[in-house]
Amino acid sequence: MADLKTNFNGIESPNPFWLASGPPTNCGEQIMRAFDAGWGGAVWKTLGDPIVNVSSRLAAIDYAGKSMSGLNNIELITDRPLLTNLKEIAAVKKKYPNHAVIVSLMVESREEWQEIIRRTEDTGADGIELNFGCPHGMCERGMGSSVGQEPKLLEEITAWTAEFSTIPLLVKLTPNITDILDPGVAAVKGGAQGLSLINTIKSIIGVDLDSFVPLPSVRDKSTNGGYCGPAVKPIALHMVAALARDSRITVPISGIGGIETWRDAAEFIALGAASVQVCTAVMHYGYRIVEDMIDGLSNYLDEAGLSSVSGLIGKAVPNFMDWGSLDLSFKTVSKIDADKCIGCQLCYIACLDGAHQCIHTHKGDCRAFHGKSDHGAGVRDCIADPVRHPEKDLKLLQVPFVDEEECVGCNLCQLVCPVPGCIEMVER
Ligand SMILES: Cc1cc2nc3c(=O)[nH]c(=O)nc-3n(C[C@H](O)[C@H](O)[C@H](O)COP(=O)(O)O)c2cc1C
Ligand code: SF4
Ligand code: SF4
Repeated sequence: MADLKTNFNGIESPNPFWLASGPPTNCGEQIMRAFDAGWGGAVWKTLGDPIVNVSSRLAAIDYAGKSMSGLNNIELITDRPLLTNLKEIAAVKKKYPNHAVIVSLMVESREEWQEIIRRTEDTGADGIELNFGCPHGMCERGMGSSVGQEPKLLEEITAWTAEFSTIPLLVKLTPNITDILDPGVAAVKGGAQGLSLINTIKSIIGVDLDSFVPLPSVRDKSTNGGYCGPAVKPIALHMVAALARDSRITVPISGIGGIETWRDAAEFIALGAASVQVCTAVMHYGYRIVEDMIDGLSNYLDEAGLSSVSGLIGKAVPNFMDWGSLDLSFKTVSKIDADKCIGCQLCYIACLDGAHQCIHTHKGDCRAFHGKSDHGAGVRDCIADPVRHPEKDLKLLQVPFVDEEECVGCNLCQLVCPVPGCIEMVER
């Protein structure tokens, strides 16, 4: 059985599945239950100067029957007293010495960083994560993403904290920037020993059209929040991969954003993550989802002939390159399996209006049976003739056909087809 043990620049955990800093890591009692459920590590809800959180604070998008496809929050850092959190961190670490306990921190001045790092280290925590990612509230006070968006400042503050800290230091990056390499490289230059990403994406999730208040509303007003959950996974995957393929990023990456299943996790790991973190999926389904994650990843590694997670890290990175390096001579075309097709015509409409007008319907004529040159005025009589067209032919008339010469191989028809395996893209 594959070894799931993880060593993230000195931070060890029984598996690569960590809880991301957020509501699931608010207190010690929660994190102990999470470890009992199987989580390998946890990043404590960000500590800093105590604040007051608002009510309400979450709103979500449901899409195609899936609730919370995207989640938006306007929660800030912990609103619990610092001392309470520190005592609980020490208790968790004492009870679970082999699990990774990382503490997320966010304060302002050099002196405050020195003080909070010292007190955090005293708990026995395994690592520190600097929250330079929060895109609401804290950034208005000069912290969170307002640091993450300024590489020079990020490097400077990372350097202070590296000076004060004796345990591994992770920098959590914001996706609210133009190029993730700028803050990523700055963090490494400043002395980060690991990078975590992504934090949430600055967003407004919707507007109540009766009251005209954006969501979530706090009495009759709202503000921008941070977007996360399954909808953000592609953005997070890209940012992780962009860092993983850059030679200046010499530290491990902890991948975060929309991870719900072992497959999501495996994709992040294949694109360069050494551990993964989960927040929204646990808020949605509870700590128990880690059981499937552990079994799934373990089985996958066994089937792939990989003896450990480390064998999977970065395996897809060499296959991710600039557009200009792609093979322009590679050509695929769409092929419809007539036996599977249910004749819904979705592919036809999609290609007609949204692609390259190369899927055609028989429109009641029988050209598919006789070739393009053998149809014309008498075609409808021909279809009605049960001898020339038995019932199986009439079913076939519902199956659209592809003009391969015109098909550009964009995949759209395959994406809209509701029948699995009915449209295949084949190389020509
Ligand atoms: C309600 C809520 C509160 C969060 N609080 C924090 C926080 O205190 N510190 C932090 O670094 N990230 C915080 N996050 C961001 C998550 O750690 C994570 O980066 C983000 O949600 C993306 O992961 P996900 O798609 O698995 O949720 C919070 C997210 C949510 C939904
Ligand atoms: S792959 Fe794109 S262009 Fe080709 S048939 Fe399908 S939708 Fe049309
Ligand atoms: S979308 Fe699929 S099932 Fe529908 S007509 Fe096209 S090939 Fe057939």
